[in-house]
Amino acid sequence: MLLRGMISSSLAPPSLRLRVATTLPPRNVTVSSSSSNSDYPLSISDEALESRGFVLRRGAEGLNLDELNGVFVAVGFPRRDTEKIRVALEHTEAALWVEHRKTRRPVAFARATGDGVFNAIIWDVVVDPSFQGIGLGKAVMERLIQELLRKGISNIALYSEPRVLGFYRPLGFVADPDGIRGMVFSRKQKKK
Ligand SMILES: CC(C)(COP(=O)(O)OP(=O)(O)OC[C@H]1O[C@@H](n2cnc3c(N)ncnc32)[C@H](O)[C@@H]1OP(=O)(O)O)[C@@H](O)C(=O)NCCC(=O)NCCS
Repeated sequence: MLLRGMISSSLAPPSLRLRVATTLPPRNVTVSSSSSNSDYPLSISDEALESRGFVLRRGAEGLNLDELNGVFVAVGFPRRDTEKIRVALEHTEAALWVEHRKTRRPVAFARATGDGVFNAIIWDVVVDPSFQGIGLGKAVMERLIQELLRKGISNIALYSEPRVLGFYRPLGFVADPDGIRGMVFSRKQKKK
């Protein structure tokens, strides 16, 4: 999901913050994966992806941010200031994307922000609509989770739109078993 952080909301433009705050249902939609096992399996290898014409890229190097913005827009996220995306990526713990070898364009993307040691939150999980349903979303998510676990970051959370919960569950995400609920800051709710 395109997500906002409770304390990292400056990374998301206002349009994004508003969108997510208004789409969050009253029930908890924060899902988390807490694991100490850094050996997170991949369902498809980098080589197999390459044989299908997709190159797995780690980090933001070489990523055309205007084209990434285009993917955001194509899936219904608001268009964002490309310069702000650049700043957000500078403050990102881990980012992965898939390049379509034929066009050299990004077709899948996911990133996580975090404190580098304990916690990370996953944001901006997107796959170009023309390339959805062929395993690219799972491929980037698996690698993102793997990278975080390898860094020793085991408290991994994300916010999910209800219609996408079924995508995240098989990857290991659950609604918090202790009933802990995510909360988002809302200016309207703040008592004066
Ligand atoms: C959600 C999204 C990232 C999934 O990416 P994708 O590449 O289409 O998904 P994949 O092909 O990797 O699917 C992996 C598995 O998840 C399942 N899946 C995909 N989308 C799903 C959904 N919305 N609900 C339930 N299961 C889903 C697939 O059937 C597949 O199952 P399998 O492993 O048993 O075959 C992509 O559809 C997307 O970008 N959507 C628009 C943006 C968005 O909603 N982002 C997430 C916001 S929270």
